[in-house]
Amino acid sequence: MNIIRAKDYQDMSRKAANIISAQIIMKPDCVLGLATGSTPIGTYKQLIDWYNKGDLDFSKVSTVNLDEYRGLKHTDSQSYYYFMHENLFSHVNIRKEATFVPDGTNPDAGAACAEHESVIRELGGIDLQLLGLGNNGHIGFNEPGAAFEKETHCVDLTESTIKANARFFDSIEEVPTQAYTMGIRTIMQAKKILVVVNGAGKADIVARAFWGPVTPEVPASILQMHPDVTVVCDEEALSMAPQR
Ligand code: GLP
Repeated sequence: MNIIRAKDYQDMSRKAANIISAQIIMKPDCVLGLATGSTPIGTYKQLIDWYNKGDLDFSKVSTVNLDEYRGLKHTDSQSYYYFMHENLFSHVNIRKEATFVPDGTNPDAGAACAEHESVIRELGGIDLQLLGLGNNGHIGFNEPGAAFEKETHCVDLTESTIKANARFFDSIEEVPTQAYTMGIRTIMQAKKILVVVNGAGKADIVARAFWGPVTPEVPASILQMHPDVTVVCDEEALSMAPQR
């Protein structure tokens, strides 16, 4: 695991965007695995900025997203489909037909999840998967206790995740209780993984995920077993890590 220390959120975002840019420059037709949540927003902003300056070309890039709430329409401002268009896709020259977010509008969970897996397979797998880290150690929506061997599947969100994500909704009742998410197995099959984490609120989970034992109770801890993981953390997020 390569742990990169960033000064602050902006520095974390620039460093992560640099790694994604390098991937796009080295392999213009790469497959990027993308994430939502507040953490990667700065990374996407930086990529858009470099695109506007003519330094990046997304025309051959394909993307697959980690997860999506079950039951939200694409036009719902809380759907991850909407998030990705707002925060990245509408601002760069990516082909919209080359962007894939799990289809939360499909009530048939089995079919929606199988479709997402087959998209990833047909694209030839994920070259670089971007991840945020949930407060309880979740990645995508793989909550504590999730089996490591799962592919894309439907999950019941934990109360702590529903609470954490309520800040984006008008009320907690509006937060969906289920989601479609790539499984740990899907994530671990990505050739490279890039994790972004910031803020003192994540210091404890950073220490447990990347320095603690590998256990389904901390889903992100499995990343210690992946051969090519880079974690970019700001100083606050690293404040409880041993020897840092
Ligand atoms: C959600 C997403 C995760 C994300 C997490 C952390 O639950 N499904 O992919 O990593 O939130 O969000 P934030 O970056 O806002 O802390």
